[in-house]
Amino acid sequence: MDHISAIQSYVYNKFAKDGSGHDYYHMRRVALLAGRIAKLEDAEVFVTEAAGWLHDVDDRKLTDSPEEARKERDEFLEGIGVDYSTRKAIGVAIQDVSFSKGNTPITIEGKIVQDADRLDAIGAIGIARTFAYGGSKGRPLHSELSGEKELASIQHFYDKLLLLKDKMNTETAKMMAEERHNFMELFLHRFLQEWNIDY
Ligand code: NI
Repeated sequence: MDHISAIQSYVYNKFAKDGSGHDYYHMRRVALLAGRIAKLEDAEVFVTEAAGWLHDVDDRKLTDSPEEARKERDEFLEGIGVDYSTRKAIGVAIQDVSFSKGNTPITIEGKIVQDADRLDAIGAIGIARTFAYGGSKGRPLHSELSGEKELASIQHFYDKLLLLKDKMNTETAKMMAEERHNFMELFLHRFLQEWNIDY
């Protein structure tokens, strides 16, 4: 089995049961998008794609012990025969990806994985994931009551998602983000029209 197929099954076993929008297919979309951007940005394609597949393995939202998860991930990569320097490059690419940490990754491969993860948070997929995540936390779609409004899924667009297009690291991702952003604006406009029975 080649490295990417082995990584794919490892990720599948870990995330197949997730219902919060961080499932196996999120990892696949981020990996494929990252791989595509890597080719256009002259980055190391295997490192970028592997980091895309594995970027949420140690995410605080998804594991109680990120340290353990990282160790296990590295042992897995070593086990399938990925050499030390490649493993190190993958680890570096992943470490600053998360939005909540607010960091910009140091390597081009890390920047690309962060871009791919952010692209998957916007557009049609981003809309679907936002409501799936909100639902998994018992949050309302939208609300007009203060105290409840702030937690509603619609608020998440204004707090985070509409800001992402200006946070892309690479030129390729900036272009890709444009269309996804416009689609979200269209969606929000229509959502609020229907919410207010104003059409
Ligand atoms: Ni992610």
